[in-house]
Amino acid sequence: MKRTWSVVTVALLSVVLTACPPKGEGTASNGTTGDILVGEYGSLSGAQATFGQSTHQGIILAIEQANAAGGVKGRQIKVLTEDDQSKQEEAANAVTKLISQNSVQAIIGEVASSASIAAAPICQSNKVPMITPSSTNEAVTKIGDYIFRMCFIDNYQGPVMARFALQELHSRRAAILTDVRNDYSTGLTKVIEETINSSGTAKVVGKQSYSNGDSDFRPQLTTIKSVNPDVIFIPGYYGDAAQIVSQARDLGIKAPFVGGDGWESPKLLEIGGKALNGCYYANHYFSGDPAAVVRNFVDTYQKRWNVVPGALDALGYDAANVLVDALKRAGTTDEPALRDAIASTKDFPGVTGNITLGPDRNPVGKKIVIIAIKDGKMSLATTIDPSTANGGVAAQK
Ligand code: PHE
Repeated sequence: MKRTWSVVTVALLSVVLTACPPKGEGTASNGTTGDILVGEYGSLSGAQATFGQSTHQGIILAIEQANAAGGVKGRQIKVLTEDDQSKQEEAANAVTKLISQNSVQAIIGEVASSASIAAAPICQSNKVPMITPSSTNEAVTKIGDYIFRMCFIDNYQGPVMARFALQELHSRRAAILTDVRNDYSTGLTKVIEETINSSGTAKVVGKQSYSNGDSDFRPQLTTIKSVNPDVIFIPGYYGDAAQIVSQARDLGIKAPFVGGDGWESPKLLEIGGKALNGCYYANHYFSGDPAAVVRNFVDTYQKRWNVVPGALDALGYDAANVLVDALKRAGTTDEPALRDAIASTKDFPGVTGNITLGPDRNPVGKKIVIIAIKDGKMSLATTIDPSTANGGVAAQK
C-alpha cells in the first residue's frame, strides 16, 4: 500500500515538474550561455554524515579546478548543494527542489543506494542527468537512461567479498548481519550468500538482521556466536558496523568480520577502535596507492581540505570531472545532448580507475581493493582488477 502511494506521488510530482517551465537561478539561461548549474544532494548530516561530507569535498575540489581552468567554454560551474540528512524521503525532496526551484542542469548524488533509488525517478522523468558517484546497488541505473554511476556494482562486490573470505581467510562457516531496510545491504547479502553456498566448501550457518541506527546488537550476536562461524559479513554502513564489531568482541566473538564499501569512513576506526583489528572491507580505492594519479590527487586534496581523501572523496571528484568532461564535449546543457555525452564517456582517467561507461550506464571493469585493518591502521590486502588475467580472484598479496 505504502509503495503504491509513493509511486503515485512520484508520478504526480513529475507531471507538475514537467508542466511548469523551470524558473532559473543565477545567470543560467539556456543550453549554451550563462553559468552551468549543477545540483548535489547528499547526507551532510544524520547517521551517514561522513558519506555526504567526503563526497561534497571531492566534488567541490573538481569544480574549483575546472572553473580555475576557464570553466566549460568560458562558462563557470556553480554547485548547489542540498542536505538530505541521510534520509530517503529527504533525498527525493532535495532533488525535486534542485530541479523545480533551482533549474539545475545535472545532478550528482547520492551515496546510499536507497537514497539514489528514491531520487532517481525524479531526475529521469524530468530528463536531468544524474550521476551517482558511489551507489552500488544494481537497481539504481536501471531506473532509466538519464541515470549513471561511477562505481562497480554489488553483483560484483558481493562475490569478491565472499571469495576473499573463502580463499584468503579459508572460511567454511559464514554468518551475515543485514541492515534489512537498506537496499544496498539486502542486495549484497543475497549475492554473498549465493557465492558462499555455491562454493562447495563453505556454507552460511547464520543470518541475522538489524536496522540502521540500532544501538544494541547483542541479541543477534549471541545467536551468531552459538553457531560458531569462522567469518561474519556485515554488508552495512560504518556506524552500525563499528558498533557491531565492538559488541561482538565484548561477547568473546573472535572471528574476522568482512564488510563492503559501506564501511569506508573516517569515523570507522574512531568508533570501532581496536575491535576492528583483523577485519577487512572491500573498497573502490586506497589512499596509499603508489599510482601517480592517486598520489597527485591525495596531495592536491590534502592541500585543499587538510585531510587524506577516502574512496567517497575520490568518487565525488571523479563524478564531477566526468560531468565536466561531458559538458565540454556536448558544448551545451540541452538534452539529450548532455545525456548522450555522459553516456559516451570512454577511458576517462579517474582517480578510482579509467572510466568507460557501458550500455547500462555502469562503468566497465573497475577494480576492487580489499582493505585490511591491523594495529589500528588500514593497509591494502589485495586488489582485484578485472582488466588483468586473474580478474575476480584475489591475487597480489
Ligand atoms: N555503495 C554504498 C551504497 O550503495 C555506498 C557507499 C559507497 C558507501 C562507497 C561508502 C563508500 O549504499
